[in-house]
Amino acid sequence: MQFFLDTADIESIKKYAAWGVVDGVTTNPSLLAKAGVSLEQRIKEIAEVVDGPISAEVVSVNAGEMVEEAKKYAQWHKNVVIKLPMTEEGLKALKMLSEEGIRCNVTLIFSAGQALLAAKNGAAFVSPFVGRLDDISEDGMALISEIMAIYKNYEFKTKVIVASVRHPRHVIESALMGADIATIPPEVFDKLIKHPMTDKGVEAFLKDWEKVKNLK
Ligand code: G3P
Repeated sequence: MQFFLDTADIESIKKYAAWGVVDGVTTNPSLLAKAGVSLEQRIKEIAEVVDGPISAEVVSVNAGEMVEEAKKYAQWHKNVVIKLPMTEEGLKALKMLSEEGIRCNVTLIFSAGQALLAAKNGAAFVSPFVGRLDDISEDGMALISEIMAIYKNYEFKTKVIVASVRHPRHVIESALMGADIATIPPEVFDKLIKHPMTDKGVEAFLKDWEKVKNLK
């Protein structure tokens, strides 16, 4: 299973990359606004830190302009993946870009039908938003299971990125289902590593070590 970081905060990216568990990064316009930085500057900085797919999202609304934007982003670094919205225009842009060998991540996926369309047009990745589905009392992880079953039936190569991850349970359930990737926000990484019994155990071992460390 691969872990991507779902943030545009470069300090966080450096921190979790140092753990050795980060295989890629996903950004979006909201994450960039939070970080207060330009897309081009941040993508290039991320590429210095993480050697894996880095999603950069287009903001055009028609297919032709999305393709132009995508081609510009793709020149920034070999690891750039173009994030396209799951719209009619996004679907058209996806077809054109994937035929040219440019890898795309279709985002804002909320149904298995949308994931099927994206796979048919050659998406390298799809990003179903599990947390936002849970927010409206739907079952986000059930969507992941449906998409994975469909992709398996037809041997689609499209990889599933579990997105809008809100807590470690989303990550664990993704792993149990065999999802390819989870894109994880920094605060969920912190919750994944933490356990109070681990902290307590380390403290007790260190305390006891003090009692024997000078013995010959
Ligand atoms: O990549 C962005 C996606 O993960 C959205 O997350 O928390 O805004 O629903 P969220």
